[in-house]
Amino acid sequence: MIYLKTPEEIQAMRPACELISRTLGELAKWIEPGVTTRRLDTIAREFIRDNGGKPACLGYSGFPATLCIEVNETVVHGFPSNYSLRDGDIIGIDTVVEKDTFMGDMCYTFPVGDVDDKILALCRTTKESLQIGIDACVAGRRIGDIANAIQTYCEHRNYSVVREMCGHGIGHDMHEDPEVPNYGRRGIGPVIKNGMVLCIEPMINMGSRNIVIESDGWTCRTKDRKPSAHYEHTLAVYDDKAHPLTTFAYIEEALGERYI
Ligand code: MF3
Ligand code: CO
Repeated sequence: MIYLKTPEEIQAMRPACELISRTLGELAKWIEPGVTTRRLDTIAREFIRDNGGKPACLGYSGFPATLCIEVNETVVHGFPSNYSLRDGDIIGIDTVVEKDTFMGDMCYTFPVGDVDDKILALCRTTKESLQIGIDACVAGRRIGDIANAIQTYCEHRNYSVVREMCGHGIGHDMHEDPEVPNYGRRGIGPVIKNGMVLCIEPMINMGSRNIVIESDGWTCRTKDRKPSAHYEHTLAVYDDKAHPLTTFAYIEEALGERYI
């Protein structure tokens, strides 16, 4: 069941999306070699609460933390830990904030220190593919058109698309219909309509698309242990096109010339 939002409801989703954007901007200031991912989780949890939000991943289906931590070969849903970030790592941080009863969901993959050009290229392509997906999100077209645009963009650059995990609708719930895959055929799936609020989140691998879920039941990594990148925006469809409600601007501001 797809819940179309009124213009008032879309307005009411902005505070959650603004707070998640500012939270990732705050984390950007702390990401450097030596910091533990658990420290980042604490910073995020306190920042969200201090700003009137609720960390929505914490306790969701038993997820034990505020942040999903995706270091190098981790694709999604990794736990914060006492791992200290190392020069040359990439770290995806994916998290959801609840504010004023609505959810905002966003992910950004950050380079840590000096990162190999090939891995930076994977990050850039993944981020670009998110924008390609947003551009394909036009009222009257179909969800498959978004999916196909992302897949085509990434596969033409010799990366692979994770298939087991998808984007999704969002609202009062973190995951609403429709599913928004990152692969598939054009012209299939639900028709895109004004009032839809969607999360588009390409998860793109350097090597094969195959993934493994670790024995903790959550952590998802690439089977070949090659790196994976992940970027996500929450966006609303109105005036026949997609308008991101989350922004990377605070990350850009925090990172300055290190922003990729
Ligand atoms: N953006 C992630 C998703 O849509 C957030 C997961 S939160 C968790 O799957 F609690 F499920 F980990
Ligand atoms: Co999501």
